[in-house]
Amino acid sequence: MAKFYITTPIYYVNDKPHIGHAYTTIVADILARYHRLKGDQTYFLTGTDEHGSKVAQSAEKINYHPQKFCDERSAMYQLAFDTLNISNDDFIRTTEKRHEERVMVILEKMKKGKTPKGNDVFFEGEYSGLYCTGCEAYKKEEDLIDGKCPDHLREPEQITEKNWFFRLSDYNDVLMEKIFNGELKIAPEIRKNEMAGLLKQGLEDVAISRNNVAWGIPLPWDKEQTVYVWIEALMNYITALGYGTKNQKLFKKFWPAVHLMAKDIIKFHALIWPAILITLGEQIPELVFAHGFFTINGQKMSKTIGNVIDPIQLVNDIGVDPARFYLATEMTFGNDGDVSIERMKEAYGAHLANGLGNLFARITGMYSKYAENIDYKVKINTKKYSLIVDETWKNYENFLDNLVVDNAVGEVWKLIGWCDKFVEENKPWELAKQKDYKKLSEVILILLENLRHIGWMISPIMPDTSVNILTLLGYFDTDKTLKYAKLKKWGIQAKTSPQNAILFPRLA
Ligand code: MSP
Repeated sequence: MAKFYITTPIYYVNDKPHIGHAYTTIVADILARYHRLKGDQTYFLTGTDEHGSKVAQSAEKINYHPQKFCDERSAMYQLAFDTLNISNDDFIRTTEKRHEERVMVILEKMKKGKTPKGNDVFFEGEYSGLYCTGCEAYKKEEDLIDGKCPDHLREPEQITEKNWFFRLSDYNDVLMEKIFNGELKIAPEIRKNEMAGLLKQGLEDVAISRNNVAWGIPLPWDKEQTVYVWIEALMNYITALGYGTKNQKLFKKFWPAVHLMAKDIIKFHALIWPAILITLGEQIPELVFAHGFFTINGQKMSKTIGNVIDPIQLVNDIGVDPARFYLATEMTFGNDGDVSIERMKEAYGAHLANGLGNLFARITGMYSKYAENIDYKVKINTKKYSLIVDETWKNYENFLDNLVVDNAVGEVWKLIGWCDKFVEENKPWELAKQKDYKKLSEVILILLENLRHIGWMISPIMPDTSVNILTLLGYFDTDKTLKYAKLKKWGIQAKTSPQNAILFPRLA
């Protein structure tokens, strides 16, 4: 049986959850639900990143102990994800004992290893550089614009510290080779090229510890130091699976992962993380996939500008499934995207209320009207009509297997468009007038069968609406245990009595 392990980044708790975090998590959720639908063994992990100077400073500002701050903020992420109907199997927090203990085991294991060039993996040194607390990373002069970090719009601090280092430069050739022989999969292509470009310039060694950051995991062999937040954060993807304990059942079952994130943090995932895994003698990730960035009305989302959209507010305004639908489809595969409340309302009207909602109401409405003349035994040209549905499933799967969620949704909406056209072409109301009940039955049953498929296809994207549609059609109770191969086959429905309903009421 196939397996699928998908992760989101673990989010920094100094920020409150916004629709950027929601976006990555919704896309991961759609993929996880799709793989569960297919019957794959699926594991979906998300969580919060809670150590480091940035979090400690945010807690201090409001006179909180960092742990209390983390507890409150992490709960906000969990609440937001529950509100968005996210089906994660685990939620990891880096201040949990299970994570802290396993990180120490992992670091000790790495320390015993050698780099691909036969050197010690870690070494002690002094580092002087420009540190951006916003990124929790050292920056080079050439990364800055007007002396400021372009992501956080502030000047980094000049820091000189005694640190422990990971000899990342020794992994340069191995990583390059793995990118070129296709073993290290980075998508989309533009990000792969960007990583290959960094390798061409040559990787520098990276600090794995900090000297003056108390809010962190102590470095096992030098308790004066704490583990650099990025190094332990990356490890969450395996500590959550029990790596570093005797029982590594989940790790054995699910590793390696598909890592989803935005392009801001791809370097950590596509270069540093595989190097750590190589040192541990473990498989590198199955795929590192970076999507683009959301802006709001063309502007970067920021607390200072005050344009941050709270996902819970969004769900309150338009409902959970419409919020998931809008966010998942507004960003074109791999590109940046822009969110606006006006477009959100437009999309709701065009694709949900007038699109899917209208089609559903129309078909079930016609069924109710003509129910007594519908003959379930009528012969349907299955070969002809299954073609469009089979084709839709094929394209839908192809897109979702490649993480192109917006196009997969587009395929379903093409099918909705086909159904609308089919109604217009066949005019069931005229068939009823002419008392052509044979043709009328055929047309209505074809449309109902298409709706059933649409109901299943949207289940990863809009889970509640899917259950709603299938239940209203009268299938869900019996169909929910159906195997994937069977449910996507055309024409399996039994006689049901579809109910009419408004799936998407007009927005106020
Ligand atoms: N804690 C690190 C990640 C460690 S993973 C081992 C971190 N956290 S973060 O809170 O800053 O989250 C960054 C991620 O949030 C992005 O990679 C992306 O997945 C998501 N997004 C945050 N803002 C976003 C947008 N404006 N648009 C799209 N995604 C956004 O980095």
